[in-house]
Amino acid sequence: MKLFSRKKDAVMGVDISATAIKLVELSKKKSGYVLKAFANIPLPRDAIVENTVIDSIAVSQALLDAIEESGAKTKNVSIAVSGNALIIKVIQVPTTTEFDLEAQIMFEADQHVPFDIEDVYSDFQILGVNEVDPELMDVVLVACKREIVDDYQLVLSEAGLNASCVDCAVFAIENAAEEVGLLDVDSLELDAAEALDGEIEGGGASALINIGANIINVNILREGQMAFVRDQFYGGQNLTELIQKTHAVSFTAAEEMKKNSFSEIDPNVTEEFYSNLSSEISRSLDFYSANNAEYPVQTILLSGGCALIPDIDVELYQRLGIETKILNPFEKIEIPEQLFDVESLRKIGPMMVVPIGLAMRSFDQ
Ligand SMILES: Nc1ncnc2c1ncn2[C@@H]1O[C@H](COP(=O)(O)OP(=O)(O)OP(=O)(O)O)[C@@H](O)[C@H]1O
Ligand SMILES: [Mg+2]
Repeated sequence: MKLFSRKKDAVMGVDISATAIKLVELSKKKSGYVLKAFANIPLPRDAIVENTVIDSIAVSQALLDAIEESGAKTKNVSIAVSGNALIIKVIQVPTTTEFDLEAQIMFEADQHVPFDIEDVYSDFQILGVNEVDPELMDVVLVACKREIVDDYQLVLSEAGLNASCVDCAVFAIENAAEEVGLLDVDSLELDAAEALDGEIEGGGASALINIGANIINVNILREGQMAFVRDQFYGGQNLTELIQKTHAVSFTAAEEMKKNSFSEIDPNVTEEFYSNLSSEISRSLDFYSANNAEYPVQTILLSGGCALIPDIDVELYQRLGIETKILNPFEKIEIPEQLFDVESLRKIGPMMVVPIGLAMRSFDQ
């Protein structure tokens, strides 16, 4: 199976991640997207660890619950992969057609992927002519360990579902942000007058940062094009564990405290979390700017469950010095009030960016 195959049949976005199964189905009208089906079913702790399915029975049961709760009728789903088993690279290859590149992509992947080529699914997307050498073209190469995708396929098939599209979490996030108009070049990127003033050469860039329980997905777009992607291992679970230790409470109680009484958390705990989190993010920003100094990151668009932490945007702005906005696609998607609790869905919108971006794949050309 190919990584990005058969988008047109893929209807539901299903995010199988550390804390939950999140399911989103959308329809599209002239005025924009409308929510059709939704479910967010918690997974037992450690059912999925670092994107590997550990407890397949619990995961397929949660998938069945998600289908039942959402009332979704479709069987074809889009899923996302992320983490260490996934390699995303921009490579340069001699200019050729998509058809010819298809035939030689395994050879290219073999040069660039640190795993045995027999053990990965790979795919590519042509970006365009290389800026420096017009005889070369830039291509995004994606390779993911087969066992990760195969394990997901297995739990899906046990729940009667079929993965017709396997995407990368970073691209699903980009897709969601783009489709709801939040990557609007005018609103995000450097003011032309400022660039002409000579303050900054080149232009601006924006960073999509999704902070989940264990993984931070980073996708930095330079003039609207992917310039840097990376998945880092840090997230909300680290905060939960810090609360557990300092307040001597159970994991469940610490999660509860985080979600319902954040202000009661010992300030040393939140300080340690923010400090670790901002150093993780800075590492990615530094990697990016090493090759893109003339295109500084001007905006961070924050999503994932950690984007629900009160004032996290202000905290990150203070630590990183970059304007930080919360990405909430549910503010731009129509949610029929006769079917859903609109207010509570809007509240958790930032946590649903991956399944929303996946669901939007079904409308790709
Ligand atoms: N209201 C809230 N306030 C603070 N933290 C929250 C809130 N809601 C969820 N979280 C935290 O967000 C994290 C879950 O986020 P998310 O659903 O994006 O992760 P995930 O996709 O399951 O995990 P990963 O992407 O790491 O596999 C958990 O650590 C959870 O405690
Ligand atoms: Mg996630």
